[in-house]
Amino acid sequence: MAKINQNYMQLQGSYLFSEVARRRNKFISENPNASIISLGIGDVTRPLPEAVLSGMHAAVDELADSVSFKGYGPEQGYEFLIAQIIGNDYNTRGISLETDEVFVSDGSKCDVANIQEIFSLDTVIAVTDPVYPVYVDSNVMAGRSGAYDKTANRYENIVYLPCNAENNFIPSLPDKKVDLIYLCYPNNPTGMTLSKEELKKWVDFAKANKCIILYDSAYEAYIQEDDVPRSIYEIEGAKDVAIEFRSYSKTAGFTGVRCAYTVVPKGVKAYDEDGNSVTVRDLWNRRQTTKFNGCSYITQKGAAAIYTEAGKEQIRSLVDYYMTNAKIIREGVKSLGFEVYGGVNAPYIWLKTPNGLGSWQFFDKLLSEANIVGTPGVGFGQSGEGYLRLTAFGSRENTETAVERLTKISL
Ligand code: MLT
Repeated sequence: MAKINQNYMQLQGSYLFSEVARRRNKFISENPNASIISLGIGDVTRPLPEAVLSGMHAAVDELADSVSFKGYGPEQGYEFLIAQIIGNDYNTRGISLETDEVFVSDGSKCDVANIQEIFSLDTVIAVTDPVYPVYVDSNVMAGRSGAYDKTANRYENIVYLPCNAENNFIPSLPDKKVDLIYLCYPNNPTGMTLSKEELKKWVDFAKANKCIILYDSAYEAYIQEDDVPRSIYEIEGAKDVAIEFRSYSKTAGFTGVRCAYTVVPKGVKAYDEDGNSVTVRDLWNRRQTTKFNGCSYITQKGAAAIYTEAGKEQIRSLVDYYMTNAKIIREGVKSLGFEVYGGVNAPYIWLKTPNGLGSWQFFDKLLSEANIVGTPGVGFGQSGEGYLRLTAFGSRENTETAVERLTKISL
């Protein structure tokens, strides 16, 4: 008899973005003439940059020739890409990394979900609340969450760090023992950032308590302000306590192409049952070589092209395009009297729902009255209740129309 992994029974409902899509599709089937604008899931809409396409086309041609053909590539990624990553994304900011500390993959979602596998099942995880649901759900699947408390909308063994308007979306350090801390900055879903001083508190805390920080930096390319840290390794000592995740999805329009990378410095240690330290990088390497066959050559050639002068210029204009959308949404909803956060260093705008409406209530209202799909804040955690997230990843036309439509809803 095939038995299921009982931990899956602890998962709540469906994955957030699947539920949003389900409600949208139901609305469309009942209102086939409605013209829906989706500002829900953070999925890009602009085509791939020209430099990326040229890189990919050239790679396709190489694969057509028996001399330059490639089969399996290195599970960790091709050196031509890793060299560009280290040189451009780190060395330019005074951060040194070794080639074997960088792991190219097919997405940060997979990496942030898979990394927990190498830690013990009694590891206590801490997450900000609201939070990108993958961090929580992957730990539920593994069996670390404990039971789900329906009233609290939380798992009993997970440590939640509330982020809301009252604390300016800055999480407090945990007041109990934790082992793994998930931080995502610029933040998904709130669009807020942490200053260097705030981030240093976390690095110091992790050092003092032998914790590891899992730092999701997927939205780093959207940072506009000079003093906002782009990498956790800008903080002294972070290479001993932090793993960093970066993605080309939002940076270069790769949500459908799939390419990302994870940095696991050799200084990051975890402990075996006897208290001996183990290099986490070696375990991640072991995991990846066993379960992953690398990201495709064509994709990695496309990613490497981002680092050419033309590529850099093109992704800058891609980011500018979406950040102009963010400004349009932010200023538009602000002028309508909404309390609004984020959207300055991130492509997400986090707004307080009007008149005390619950997140899903406001989601339904936006869908039915303005035909706009957002993402209900409570879907990211209990502290997101009473908020809704809009993304800046739509087309300019849709973004402007959405703001225009918002003026018409009854508040
Ligand atoms: C989001 O909307 O939060 C993101 O698109 C999710 C993701 O990147 O997986």
